[in-house]
Amino acid sequence: MNIHPDFKRKGYGLKLLNHALEKARDIGVGFLSMEGNIAFYGHAGFDLASKLKIHYHDEPPESEVPYFLARELIPGYLHGIEGTYTPPKGYFVAFENPEDFATYEATFPAKEKLVLPGQLPA
Ligand SMILES: CC(C)(COP(=O)(O)OP(=O)(O)OC[C@H]1O[C@@H](n2cnc3c(N)ncnc32)[C@H](O)[C@@H]1OP(=O)(O)O)[C@@H](O)C(=O)NCCC(=O)NCCS
Repeated sequence: MNIHPDFKRKGYGLKLLNHALEKARDIGVGFLSMEGNIAFYGHAGFDLASKLKIHYHDEPPESEVPYFLARELIPGYLHGIEGTYTPPKGYFVAFENPEDFATYEATFPAKEKLVLPGQLPA
């Protein structure tokens, strides 16, 4: 999700997010988990996933992972469920094939890593 810099902090991000959540609930999605910042997503009812007993694959199950969030769209959907989220296989391709990945990445122009105004802190 990305709001144009001229329109940030006017409530549009939250409106879009809540609209998307409503659509998801309409099609029967019971809960969502994601990596994100609670400063923004907390306004849409997300909490730390660890509080819902949804753990992050890369962290100890007993830890409170500040960037891993979850929200039930259907109340009680997770009742009695505990689990661990692992991102899709494609997320790990750079780790599994570092040389191939470096070759592929070298085909793109070099970019400077920036932190821009309005960007949520990591
Ligand atoms: C994050 C983003 C989508 C928020 O959109 P937005 O339209 O500016 O957000 P809203 O106006 O709906 O903000 C609602 C509340 O979320 C919180 N919030 C939003 N942006 C924040 C920020 N950069 N830092 C801390 N809190 C933030 C605030 O509490 C805000 O309420 P307030 O403005 O009354 O204080 C937007 O800043 C953006 O496009 N950022 C760059 C891309 C990005 O980081 N995306 C998120 C990763 S998926």
